[in-house]
Amino acid sequence: MRPDADRTRRLARRALLILAVGGVILAAALVSVYLALPDRLQATAPASRLAEPGSVPIGGPFALVDHRGRTVTEKSFGGRYLLVFFGFTNCPDVCPTTLGDIARALDLLGSEANAVQPLFVSLDPERDRPKRLAEYVKAFHPRIVGLTGTPRQITAVAKAYRVFYEKVSAKSYYGRKSAASKEPKPVGDDYLISHQGNTYLMSPKGEYLAHFSYGTKAPEIARVIREAIAKYGNPARREE
Ligand code: NI
Repeated sequence: MRPDADRTRRLARRALLILAVGGVILAAALVSVYLALPDRLQATAPASRLAEPGSVPIGGPFALVDHRGRTVTEKSFGGRYLLVFFGFTNCPDVCPTTLGDIARALDLLGSEANAVQPLFVSLDPERDRPKRLAEYVKAFHPRIVGLTGTPRQITAVAKAYRVFYEKVSAKSYYGRKSAASKEPKPVGDDYLISHQGNTYLMSPKGEYLAHFSYGTKAPEIARVIREAIAKYGNPARREE
């Protein structure tokens, strides 16, 4: 009787041990799958950068002059998405880099690039007249339209897009000092424009969708534009 009872107890203990070890292994496996999950989801679908249309008060109607000398408004571009960037043709760094990234993004988009109209708005309307803008933008991409206007029109559109800019001397530009410092005000034609370097993606209805800060690479710009087209449609396709 006694040895049998002992054996039964030993077997029961071993069974419990196996169950416990199995349980621990299963729990560990579940935890590791759970921990790995967010990473895997992120790799396949990056977080959306698109704002809810109408939720961000950036942008609005404008009246400007394009690089062919025609008066244009936000409605002049066939209901396309607008990719709006502000700068000046004498810019030594931020503008050429950004326009190069925009040009590469257009090439990456292929036929979908037709859904978006890239605009380069000059913050230096006194020097950037249409002819000069035409030569400048075509050096980057044939689809980019240069916009200028009266100083008053430029002030209004920059304000609507919350773009800060100021005329500064070359010395304070390269020293990254604000004009509020003791640097003398630039005289005559010898100035640069210190400006904010965001590029704005606007919906076909003119609502802010996203912005790309200076240095955003072309594949990321193209990705967000594709996401917007997938979500809100391709106005260029309807036109065809
Ligand atoms: Ni610039």
